[in-house]
Amino acid sequence: MAMWAGRFSKEVDEGVNAFNSSISFDARMYRQDIAGSIAHATMLGEQGIISMSDSLEIIGGLKEILADIDSGKLVFDPNAEDIHMFIEAELTKRLGDVGKRLHTSRSRNDQVALDIRLYLRDKIKEIKQLLSTLIEILCKLAEENADTIMPGYTHLQRAQPITFGHHLMAYAQMLLRDIDRLCDTEKRMNVNPLGSCALAGTTYNIDRFRTTSLLNMKEPMENSLDGVSDRDFCMELANALSICMVHLSRFSEEIILWCSWEFKFIELDDAFSTGSSIMPQKKNPDVTELIRGKTARVIGDNMTLLTMMKGLPLAYNKDMQEDKEAIFDAVDNIKLCISTFTPMLATMTVLRDNMRKAAAKGFINATDCADYLVKKGMPFRTAYKITGGLVALCISKNTTLEELPLDEYKKASELFDNDVYEAINLETCVKERKSFGGPSPESVLTQINSVKKKLEELNNG
Ligand code: ARG
Repeated sequence: MAMWAGRFSKEVDEGVNAFNSSISFDARMYRQDIAGSIAHATMLGEQGIISMSDSLEIIGGLKEILADIDSGKLVFDPNAEDIHMFIEAELTKRLGDVGKRLHTSRSRNDQVALDIRLYLRDKIKEIKQLLSTLIEILCKLAEENADTIMPGYTHLQRAQPITFGHHLMAYAQMLLRDIDRLCDTEKRMNVNPLGSCALAGTTYNIDRFRTTSLLNMKEPMENSLDGVSDRDFCMELANALSICMVHLSRFSEEIILWCSWEFKFIELDDAFSTGSSIMPQKKNPDVTELIRGKTARVIGDNMTLLTMMKGLPLAYNKDMQEDKEAIFDAVDNIKLCISTFTPMLATMTVLRDNMRKAAAKGFINATDCADYLVKKGMPFRTAYKITGGLVALCISKNTTLEELPLDEYKKASELFDNDVYEAINLETCVKERKSFGGPSPESVLTQINSVKKKLEELNNG
């Protein structure tokens, strides 16, 4: 019989029982459930709501249950309704009537809300750690490639010269924002719903500030209805994780392109590539493709949570049990993705010569050629037009701006002189792009230092 069976005259239908049960996916919160119960029992004892000796016996029993689950001695009963019922039933099995006192002035509604918060609080820490390591690898690679010239693209067309270091640091910035978003999410997650009870608080003299400090949370939630019906923290986390996955997905897409024969800017280590069952020559970037694919899944989890919540009246509704599989899936998958992505990045080979060769084609120094004229006094629009003409001339002669003879330049404008070749030299073009946030080697090093500093602040803040 279920623990709530008092008013029922029949056993619940077996199919309904299985349909209703969440233990298969909420058992993973057993540590948090026990931690919450220990805080609750401590407070009940201190407030004289249960006797001190019952409180101590309950705490001891809960600690033993935790040890037994950890050691594998106690296994979850798949027929239990959920992790909360399982642990309470086990406690009662062990302590008899004393165990039955634990649930005084508590409901599974505030219990589950607390457990998810505590569980996700731990997961945020782990994800932040993984992202920090990834950013550190990016900084190291960017330092090694601060002067590695590559074409920068817009519309996937070669546009202007940049450095590979600069390109990598763009991702470091995105991931730094992801950590910042996680810190922000954590702030609103780390508040305590325990004591909201079913929906309307309680007549017992509970001390919610005490459980809050025992659980190392910021403050008790101020409205009991909100306490049990709020899942903003799940939606916020799923959203932060979706954005982070979009970043990893865009990076993955670029790596997939860079691995192709059409680009050949990098080569992935054999340990992070896969072959084809039929084509002997193939070396496929499966890891990055899977990350791109899993991004869809995490965005789906985010959508599940938003859609699940959007029509719910206050306070708890059973629909909300669906929150866990969605947010756990998002958390599990992003952890898998970052853990695989980071060593893949750390072991890839950067094919600098190929990047430099690609940069030499596509007239990516055309803006610099126009800027050369502007610096000699010509209005930018006129310089733009003249340079466009020179590019067209180069295309018709199958040559480059670097190789075009000076007399052709002079025919286009008298302002051109021998120093134009220095001005459009790709190394010069990159070195001179030292505007704040620009791609010059000097600026890339500034970026790296700043990212490292901000990362430290975020992780210690
Ligand atoms: N397993 C439930 C969930 O995950 C726990 C809360 C159940 N509360 C209730 N009143 N049925 O949401």
